[in-house]
Amino acid sequence: MKIAVIGGTGLIGSQVVKILNASGHEAVPHSPSSGVDLLTGQGLAEALRGADVVVNLTNSPTFDDASPAFFQTTMDNLLAAAKAAGVGHAVILSIVGADQVPDLVYYRAKVLQEDILRAGPVPYSIVRATQFFEFMSAVLSWTADERTVRLPATPVQPMASADIAQAVADVSVGRPLMGTRNIAGPEVFALDELGKITLAARGDHRTVTTDSSAGLFAAVSGDALIAKDGAVIAETTYREWLSR
Ligand SMILES: NC(=O)c1ccc[n+]([C@@H]2O[C@H](COP(=O)([O-])OP(=O)(O)OC[C@H]3O[C@@H](n4cnc5c(N)ncnc54)[C@H](OP(=O)(O)O)[C@@H]3O)[C@@H](O)[C@H]2O)c1
Repeated sequence: MKIAVIGGTGLIGSQVVKILNASGHEAVPHSPSSGVDLLTGQGLAEALRGADVVVNLTNSPTFDDASPAFFQTTMDNLLAAAKAAGVGHAVILSIVGADQVPDLVYYRAKVLQEDILRAGPVPYSIVRATQFFEFMSAVLSWTADERTVRLPATPVQPMASADIAQAVADVSVGRPLMGTRNIAGPEVFALDELGKITLAARGDHRTVTTDSSAGLFAAVSGDALIAKDGAVIAETTYREWLSR
C-alpha cells in the first residue's frame, strides 16, 4: 500500500514510517521540513497523489488555547485534499479519555479533531493511546525546580511510543474501523509515583511533592485517563523501558 504519513518526522510518525516500510509498504514521511504544511495546505495535493491511506501524526506546537484552531484547520485541509485525491482511509492518533477532561483545552482540541474526522467524507480510523513513556520528561519539567518536582496523584496508564507506533501501523493497513481503537500500557500508576520511579532510575536526587494543583494533569478527575474494557493492552512495562 502507498501510505502518506503527515508528521512522519515526529516521535510516533518516524516509527510508523519505519514499521510500514519494513513490512513491504511504501510509506512516505511528510512535514513542513519536506515542504508539506497541513496548516496552509502547501504541498498536500502532491503528497496525497496516489496514496491509499493518509496517517495524520502532526501535533499542535502548543497545548494552549491555540490548539483547537490548529486541529480544526489541519483537519479541514487534510480531509479536503484526501477527498480530492481519492484517498480511501484517513487515520489519526488521539488520547484515551480525551473526552473526559473538559477542563484541558488541548484534550478538547483532540476531541474536535476526532469529531471533524468522523463527520468528514473519508473512511477513517481513530487510534486512542494513553500517555507516552517519553512524555514523562516534559511532564517533570513543567513543575520542577532544582530540588523538587510537584506532581498530582492522577492515575495514568502510560505506554511505550514504539507500541503506539505498531498499533497505528497495524490500523493503517487494515480496513477503516469507522470507529476507535483504544490502546494502553500494562500498568496503572499515580503520576507522583511515576515521577519518583523516573527520578530514581535517572539517579536524580530531587524529591517529588504531591500537589493536586500542579501541571496539566491536575485538571484530570478520577480515572479519566485509564483505559476501559475493550482496550488493547501493550506489553512493554515502564521499568523495562527505563532499563533500555
Ligand atoms: N504525548 C502523548 O502522550 C500522546 C498520547 C496520545 C496521543 N498523542 C498524539 O500523538 C500525535 C503525535 O505526537 P508526537 O509526539 O509524535 O508529535 P511530535 O513528535 O511533536 O511530531 C509532530 C510532527 O508533526 C509535524 N508537524 C507539525 N506541524 C505541522 C504542520 N503544520 N504540517 C505538517 N506537519 C506538521 C512535525 O514536523 P517537523 O518535524 O517538521 O516539525 C512532526 O513531524 C499528536 O497528535 C498527539 O496528540 C500524544
